[in-house]
Amino acid sequence: MCGIVGYIGDKNCVPILIEGLKRLEYRGYDSAGLGLLYNGNASAIKSKGKVSLLEDKIEGLNIKSSLGIGHTRWATHGEPSEINAHPHGNDSGSMFIIHNGIIENYAVIKKRLQKLGYVFKSDTDSEVLVHLIDDFHKKGNSLFHSTRLALSQVDGTYGIAVISKTEPDKIIVAKNGSPLVIGIGDDENFIASDVNALIAHTSKIVYLEDGEIAEVYKDSFMAKTITDEDILKEIVQVEMDLDEISKSGYQHFMIKEIMEQTESVTNSMRGRLLVEEGLAKLGGLKGFEDQIAKSNRIIIVACGTSWHAGLVAEYMFEQFAEIPVEVEYASEFRYRNPVILPNDTMIFISQSGETADTLAALKEAKRRGALCLGVCNAVGSSIARESHTGVYIHAGPEIGVASTKAFTSQLVVLALITMLIARKRHMSLADGKSIISEMATLPAKIERILKLNDHIEKIAEDFVNAKNFLYLGRGYNFPVALEGALKLKEISYIHAEGYPAAEMKHGPIALIDENMPAVFISPKDSVYEKVISNIEEVKARKGRIIAVASENDDKIDSLVDYTIKIPDTIRMLMPILTVIPLQLLAYHIAVKKGLNVDQPRNLAKSVTVE
Ligand code: F6R
Repeated sequence: MCGIVGYIGDKNCVPILIEGLKRLEYRGYDSAGLGLLYNGNASAIKSKGKVSLLEDKIEGLNIKSSLGIGHTRWATHGEPSEINAHPHGNDSGSMFIIHNGIIENYAVIKKRLQKLGYVFKSDTDSEVLVHLIDDFHKKGNSLFHSTRLALSQVDGTYGIAVISKTEPDKIIVAKNGSPLVIGIGDDENFIASDVNALIAHTSKIVYLEDGEIAEVYKDSFMAKTITDEDILKEIVQVEMDLDEISKSGYQHFMIKEIMEQTESVTNSMRGRLLVEEGLAKLGGLKGFEDQIAKSNRIIIVACGTSWHAGLVAEYMFEQFAEIPVEVEYASEFRYRNPVILPNDTMIFISQSGETADTLAALKEAKRRGALCLGVCNAVGSSIARESHTGVYIHAGPEIGVASTKAFTSQLVVLALITMLIARKRHMSLADGKSIISEMATLPAKIERILKLNDHIEKIAEDFVNAKNFLYLGRGYNFPVALEGALKLKEISYIHAEGYPAAEMKHGPIALIDENMPAVFISPKDSVYEKVISNIEEVKARKGRIIAVASENDDKIDSLVDYTIKIPDTIRMLMPILTVIPLQLLAYHIAVKKGLNVDQPRNLAKSVTVE
């Protein structure tokens, strides 16, 4: 969740680190800090709050340094404060570390170190690392081996960077469960938790794997395992455009990413629609197609918005591939005793590819012998690399904390996987052709929905003071109701619940009065008439209703207070369209409330801790 960046070379690293931290701020934003070596000294400059506050502080100090590390924090142990901000230093102030992850056995190690006389200044679990490394260093071990030995005593997860004035020509980095990459430059090298932070400087990346540690010099690096075995690391060329990770004139990343969906959905489908054959072409699954198509069961594992995409996929797979599906929260799956049967295929959906619970569930599923398929956005991410096979969604970097374009691209890819399986099982060529042709029309339809932005902004004005919201949909649009409610609560802090529309009368209907807005996702599909009955039930109790409805639906206007009319498509693809007005509605309500939609309170992109 926290962001890590570092530089070693001949340039002044301060602006490079600050710029890198700003690019990483979406990962955590309660405090930030830099650790620098300069003029034979080591020091840390930290600040509570945003990176811009750290930048203000550092500007006044006029420090120039050619080796430094930076961190932006999302608190796990210890409140957000300057003391708890990283870097953490050893007692003499000669060594600093930054850490992303959780040290589970920190209390035991801390007690032991305190007995040896080490003084702890913060409430964090991370601080044990610097004292432990220092302890090994004082005993004559190099900085590299001190870090390695310290990490071998630690239970938990880490992406860590260490610097010390005793060895001022290197940064030590290590990874276990939290991402860490090295960026290779010309006579300069970088380290980061996320390629986004480096892409302005280099596209040559080395991905560390779990249990690996590296010593990074300005012109070279050396890697080993934590158990001291030599390893050779490959340098990978990463394709990413700087424009993709900037706001490009939009007020927020979130609205940029919502507006990008015509393009991101196109990219998710590019080269993958075989209209004449009524087929999907997914190169990433090559060699596994038959095994997947013969599965007796599909288990989908994910968190949050990605879990909602999994729920939509359940409807898709069951309707067209006729395979039983279970959709699991990763955090629950990993701590149960899940029954994995021969011929089960498991699908792990993750935008970041780094979500700790999903990654742990994937490792457990692999251990139990399931075929594991990853559906990820971040190329080269841990879940993508750990999976046996997989498909990238190619939505492009998603920076806004609330997931938007990744969701629609996940749905596109899950629809393509459905087609691949269904055509190998029961689906006819004619049906395949008609679905694949319909998929090709999605970008144009999305474009039309995005033109409703001003209309939706106007509707949002009337709901800025709402305290609660209900989102209701049926069938394929039930998960969309969940997703609409999640979008609203995470960025506007308005309590919202998603429900299958017909479940309303089993409880939530008691909440309906003139103060309870209800959003119905009610396109003209096979459950339309039933949803209309649910709308009548809310209307009879004076609830204010917003309906996301079909363009050709004239009946609904007289039943509801606000309509958002969108183009139709087949049921299976409808969530790709119906979710977009809900993203826009949540965005505009939150902006009108004056909230920071890109960095909502308490949240962080990429949840790399449990
Ligand atoms: C909601 C949101 C989160 C993520 C969840 C999983 O807008 O972004 O609910 O969907 O943390 O993240 P990934 O997909 O990266 O595994």
